[in-house]
Amino acid sequence: MTAQNPNLAELDRRLAEKQISGIWRIPPGARPGDPKTKVQPYLWKWADVYDGLLQARDQIDIERGTAERRTLRLVNPGVPESEMTSHTMLFAFQLIQPGEVAPPHRHTMAAIRFILQGKGGYTNVGGEKMVMEDGDLILTPQWAWHEHAHEGAEPMIWLDGLDVPFVQSLQVISFEPYPEKRMAVQNNPYDSSAYGMGRPVTREEQKPAAPLHYRWRDIYPALKRLADGEPHPYEGYALEYVNPLTGGPSLPTLSCWLQLLKPGQRTRSHRHTSTVLYHAFRGSGTTVINGQPFHWEKGDTFVVPLWHWHEHASRSASEEAILFSMNDAPVLKPFGLYREQGAGESHLGL
Ligand SMILES: [Fe+2]
Ligand SMILES: [Fe+2]
Repeated sequence: MTAQNPNLAELDRRLAEKQISGIWRIPPGARPGDPKTKVQPYLWKWADVYDGLLQARDQIDIERGTAERRTLRLVNPGVPESEMTSHTMLFAFQLIQPGEVAPPHRHTMAAIRFILQGKGGYTNVGGEKMVMEDGDLILTPQWAWHEHAHEGAEPMIWLDGLDVPFVQSLQVISFEPYPEKRMAVQNNPYDSSAYGMGRPVTREEQKPAAPLHYRWRDIYPALKRLADGEPHPYEGYALEYVNPLTGGPSLPTLSCWLQLLKPGQRTRSHRHTSTVLYHAFRGSGTTVINGQPFHWEKGDTFVVPLWHWHEHASRSASEEAILFSMNDAPVLKPFGLYREQGAGESHLGL
């Protein structure tokens, strides 16, 4: 804002020369009353993603080094220059062919994999070989060495979730290729998820490890048990994947959820300062975001931007709907920046 008073304008000019700025230069009313985001609600259809992956399968040769990963990113139209799905998170889909190896590396970005299709692929994280099955969630914590390999017969597809734009905003991205072509699989006496809440007693002191592999065969029955009870007013039936060592989310920057809507079930509307990326794993439904309906079916992916009202409804009379989701609440909560408001509730603020 240019000052009307010539003396003040002169002061502003002289301060600017010294890289100093008076706070009076912020125009009145420029501070928003509510959180604002450039991220837009958007839905990506599975047919488009799948078709893109199949075409990339024929063009991208991982072995010959066209790219390290055959991955398609979901680009939010509100932040197109970043090629990210929101201001904090990235959702991408990856396809690996039988016999391929996506070379080992590590980075300061944390990643999750939610497995969608195929058999016989595995991810090696820090020497732990985790065989991927549909509906499994596999974690790659920050700076952990990891590679993907496929010993099966059909192409494998999974959903990648990362905190790339958040780490980028802190300007602490580091990336390192593994010094060798392949990572060895270690003969770990206990796999991170095989013993549930127990830990085998070993002769040598071992560092307790957080689970890296949450299996569908464990979490789905748990979700069904939850669905025997009363639904959450805004979420239907939802489980958060937890890190039992901290009681917190599965990764320090990302929380993953699995959510069930019974046939015909509808939630109430609410909004929060976290952003959520959803993937429809089963069934069909409609999510209304700030009054705009987004109809989803199995395989579709959509984003609910922060502080946007949203409610979910199942569209099937006979089939349950299951949504996998990832949110950025873990980077808000420790700083008192997480707020939520239900329809009809007053907004209490911080
Ligand atoms: Fe990676
Ligand atoms: Fe929500």
